[in-house]
Amino acid sequence: MSLWKIAPSILSADFGRLGEEVSAAEQAGADWLHLDVMDGHFVPNLTIGPDVVAAVAKRTTLPVDVHLMVREPDHLLEAFVRAGATALGVHVEACTHLHRTLSEIRRHQVRACVALNPATPAEAIRPVLSLVDQVLVMTVNPGFGGQAFIPETLPKIRQIRGWIDELRKPIDLVVDGGIGPDTIEAVALHGARVFVMGNAFFKSGDYKRFADGIRGKLASLSGP
Ligand code: DX5
Ligand code: ZN
Repeated sequence: MSLWKIAPSILSADFGRLGEEVSAAEQAGADWLHLDVMDGHFVPNLTIGPDVVAAVAKRTTLPVDVHLMVREPDHLLEAFVRAGATALGVHVEACTHLHRTLSEIRRHQVRACVALNPATPAEAIRPVLSLVDQVLVMTVNPGFGGQAFIPETLPKIRQIRGWIDELRKPIDLVVDGGIGPDTIEAVALHGARVFVMGNAFFKSGDYKRFADGIRGKLASLSGP
């Protein structure tokens, strides 16, 4: 199995045909599905809640990676676990007691993910690294799909990759925001292994062809 994982973000899918979009992404060879939950406070946008996550989870056998862009998300964790999330991501900037929140996610026996914004230094997650299964580096400011990749995040990806390698734990390093054919090589070469893609994937017209193209680009790199 490839070490690279493609995670379409359903934020850019056609919500009027969500079930079909989920199936199409799975058939195209997606490895995970990424679902963005926004609260209108931590980020200036509102999206989906546990009911939509449950509807997606019923349509797929893929991991359901839920990215909570929510301030103080503790009271919502259980609802998303019950909805079928297999991973729950919380933002370091949004949790007052981050260690407790991540421990709570683990207690529910789903994968714990810590996410950080472009302006947040890598050091902010260092104390919780041994507690997580995934680190999500935001490569745009969270809140919307279709934004331009922020290249200043690249050194941070490399820094976190180094820490993960030192720990020798199978922590997935995920990048999210502005990822597509023009940026995938740079983030992969800096150490990212999971690529969330919203706009690039769902606006591509042919999901299978798009995913194959991305895998081709990754295969041409020297490899992890
Ligand atoms: C943005 C979300 C992303 C979004 C990425 O706040 O966290 O998951 O869907 O979309 P693209 O790939 O279009 O930048
Ligand atoms: Zn996301």
